[in-house]
Parts: sequence; C-alpha cells; structure tokens
Amino acid sequence: MSTILITGATGALGSATIDHLLKLNTDHKIIGLARSEEKAASLKEKGVEVRIGNYDEPTTLEAAFSGVDTLFFISASEIGKRVEQHKNVVEAAKKADVKHIVYSSFFRKNETESSPIWMIAESHLLTEKLIKESEMTYTITLNNLYMDFVPMFLGEQVIDQGMIYLPAKDEKLAAVLRDDMAEAYAKILSGTNHDNKVYNFSNSEAVSFKQIATYLSEISGKEIGYVSPDVEEYQKTLSEAGVPEEAIGITVGFSLAIAEKELNETSSDLENILGRKPVSLKDFLTPVYQ
Ligand SMILES: NC(=O)c1ccc[n+]([C@@H]2O[C@H](COP(=O)([O-])OP(=O)(O)OC[C@H]3O[C@@H](n4cnc5c(N)ncnc54)[C@H](OP(=O)(O)O)[C@@H]3O)[C@@H](O)[C@H]2O)c1
Repeated sequence: MSTILITGATGALGSATIDHLLKLNTDHKIIGLARSEEKAASLKEKGVEVRIGNYDEPTTLEAAFSGVDTLFFISASEIGKRVEQHKNVVEAAKKADVKHIVYSSFFRKNETESSPIWMIAESHLLTEKLIKESEMTYTITLNNLYMDFVPMFLGEQVIDQGMIYLPAKDEKLAAVLRDDMAEAYAKILSGTNHDNKVYNFSNSEAVSFKQIATYLSEISGKEIGYVSPDVEEYQKTLSEAGVPEEAIGITVGFSLAIAEKELNETSSDLENILGRKPVSLKDFLTPVYQ
C-alpha cells in the first residue's frame, strides 16, 4: 500500500481521477491537494483526506507532500504563473522525498518558440526537464487537446449559423475526453510498470474540422459547413464580436497548432492503459448537439 496525492483535486481532471481511483477500490491511501477547506468539502464527503497547499507557496507544498509516495502533479491553470509554480511543486516534491511523480504535460512536435502554442509549451517543457533532472521516478503523459473543449472552438451558434468557422485548415486533431485521461491516470497511479515512461495521451483516431462538420450535420439533421479563414480575418471577426483577447489568443494558438499538424498524431498508449478504445469525438459530440 502506498500513499498517493493528487494536486488540483478540486478541478475537473483531479476530481475525476480521484473518482476513478475510488471506483478501483485500491488499498492505496488517497489524498487530495486543495487551496482551501471550503473548496475541498466534496472531497471530504467522499472520504478522501485533504491537505491544503498552494503552488505559489512552497512551504505549504512541502508540508502537504510529507509521507507521499506517488504525486500526481496536475499542471496549473494560470498560464502566466506556471513556470514559477511548477518549479515550486517539483522542488517541494524532491524535498519531501516523493518517490514517483506523475505529470500531466502536453502533446507537441514543435518544441521551439515558433510553436503557435508556445505560451502553453514553455512551462511544460521546463517542468518535464526539472522532473527528469530531479531523479524521482517519473511518468509523463503528453496530453492532446481535451475533447471537452471542442464545442468551445465550434462556438455556441454553430448549429444556428450552419457553419464551423476556424483557421485549422484541413488538418486533424486526436483530442481525448478528459474523463478518459482521468481513468487512465487512476490506473497508472494504482498500477505498476509505469516507471520512467512517457505516454502519448492522444486518441486512436484523428479527425478534421471538415469531418466534424459532417458529424454535426448527421447529429443535428441540419447541413453544417466548414470554413477555414485566414488568421487575421478570424482574429478581427472574434474581436468585433467582443471575445476577450486572451480567449482569442488561445483559440488562434490551438487552431494554428492543428493547422500545422501539431495535434494530429494518433497513439495506442491511452487505449492500452484503458484496455478499451478511448471515446471518439463523434460519440462525445452526439449528446451535445442532438
Ligand atoms: N489538454 C488540454 O486541452 C487542457 C485544457 C485546459 C487545461 N489543461 C491543463 O490541465 C489542467 C487540469 O485541467 P482541469 O480541466 O482539471 O482544470 P481545472 O478544472 O481548472 O482545475 C485546475 C486545478 O488546479 C488547481 N490550482 C490552480 N492554481 C493552483 C495553485 N496556485 N495552487 C494549487 N492548486 C491550484 C485548481 O484549484 P482551485 O479549485 O482552488 O482553483 C484546480 O483544482 C489545467 O490546470 C491545465 O494546466 C489542459
């Protein structure tokens, strides 16, 4: 029996991972890291031990990680603060003598500043380097885009407008349902044979937005087209529609990453860990647009 601590336990990925761990009914002790007692109330209701810590405050992390064998480090959510916060987490884990660190990183091919998602890439690349240099046993997952965010890229009016409008060209993405990742993390955290492995958490099929338009037509019964505008026109359209600059930056970055074939690689890693095919994009979109 070992002690597993999950950071970001109050967030979507962390809480889903804990739910899957509980379902597995393992002997391992499960601890969730939260920023406050109030936010952790639902974890306590599930019988999960809660420790309080903040990525901005190294001493809280070191105390929270005491006695932990396996740390599931879920990357932080404030992009601008991540470099410093991630350094704090890895250093605290090392000081607390954590044996094994599992880290949720991101999938990429381009590891240079020319990447359209460099704002995401920079902190992940640095964190992977720190983890590998730390001499802790590691498992790093290279996560494709969460499928759960695809409707956000399609826009709320996609069915009414009868068109997907996104500068992703005709390239594909191998997006993964966040809950599939959570189930796989639960298996990694409670299992064996994952030492010093890097897994590609991409789907076993990749899909283009042209194909997604076909799916939406079939699901909604209304003809949906796909237009890939040039980036300047797209940015102008979103800006005039009042979309905040940061959201435009993220949407443009990911669209360009898809257009540059950054997210199109399929993998069997997730399928092998889950012991079944990951949920397909069409199956995910069907109840959303029916
Ligand atoms: N692959 C993708 O498509 C994709 C998309 C979005 C995000 N991500 C990454 O995946 C991570 C997990 O996703 P998610 O959907 O679970 O995000 P989420 O629901 O926003 O959860 C983020 C978690 O991190 C915690 N957190 C944030 N800042 C912290 C800090 N300073 N100290 C301690 N805890 C902190 C949050 O705590 P509070 O509850 O207190 O806020 C929350 O529990 C994100 O943080 C992000 O790095 C990946």
